[in-house]
Amino acid sequence: MSTFPGYRPRRLRCSSGFRQLMRETLLTPADLIYPLFVVHGKNVCQEISSMPGNYHWSVDRLPAEVEEVAELGIPAVILFGLPAEKDPLGEENFSPDGIVQQAVRAIKDAVPEQMVITDVCMCEYTSHGHCGVIHERPAYCKGKGLPNGCLDNDATLQVLSKVALSHAEAGADMVAPSDMMDGRVGVIRTALDEAHYECVGIMSYAAKYASAFYGPFREAADSPPQFGDRTGYQMDPPNAREALREVAMDLAEGADVVMVKPALPYLDIIRQVRDRFDHPLAAYNVSGEYSMVKAAAARGWLDERRVALETLTSIRRAGADMVITYWAKDVARWLSET
Ligand code: PBG
Repeated sequence: MSTFPGYRPRRLRCSSGFRQLMRETLLTPADLIYPLFVVHGKNVCQEISSMPGNYHWSVDRLPAEVEEVAELGIPAVILFGLPAEKDPLGEENFSPDGIVQQAVRAIKDAVPEQMVITDVCMCEYTSHGHCGVIHERPAYCKGKGLPNGCLDNDATLQVLSKVALSHAEAGADMVAPSDMMDGRVGVIRTALDEAHYECVGIMSYAAKYASAFYGPFREAADSPPQFGDRTGYQMDPPNAREALREVAMDLAEGADVVMVKPALPYLDIIRQVRDRFDHPLAAYNVSGEYSMVKAAAARGWLDERRVALETLTSIRRAGADMVITYWAKDVARWLSET
């Protein structure tokens, strides 16, 4: 018997009822957003090799998939599109018949209550694979930048607002700019409001780091940069205070939800944003976080279900209100079994 005050054998923790009652953080399907990759063609449901358990879907197959997502209690999907053709500006990105626009219409016709978020970026659509408009590098620019040119921030804003507007016209509930250009939230907000899409929200990838964890996604979305990298416009991993400034700017420009991405290597950023701001906070449990567990689980090194639930709970515990995750459907099933 210990004489230390407060010491008691923690036998109580042995009962799952007790653990449930004491739980500070809950993970439920209602906190999750499920990413979907949409491609041209008919009757396509092709597994993405770098992200087992995730698929390229053609538009005709999407409604059934989203109905399943809705039945599992997952309130939202986020769409990524793979265009038929790429070009320097990414024309399909803002075409009324673009792949994402078609997908939004099909989903909203079939499952109107499901929230549809669209990723707004240029990299899947551009031939160079960068998230913005590339211009020849001006002579005065001696910086390192991209080897073949300069990313034109303000020209990119014009394209992004056209993309966001076309997604709103197709019926998206919320647009999610993931490009990391400066000023995009304000420009998109103005464009939406002027066209009377005041009720379409903006989820801003506010603190998006130049991360190696996006590797598997770039195969899924066919979006690797053809030269250079994204370090010029995405955030430098060692910086935390800069993330708070990015979040503050996006909120000032009218973001409804701010996001930290990736999630697991940036739990401290999620916590700091949560402590500093009252706004809805999303975290993106990105492709690398998912696929490394899948790969280890395939070798029998990790228990996928336990690792996934622990990871997603940690993201919620750090302060995220909602989590974008490739495990969303699995989580809903796992939680209903326990
Ligand atoms: C587009 C975009 C990326 C991701 C989401 N939107 C790739 C990138 O920035 O390179 C990554 C998502 C993931 O890895 O799951 N800019």
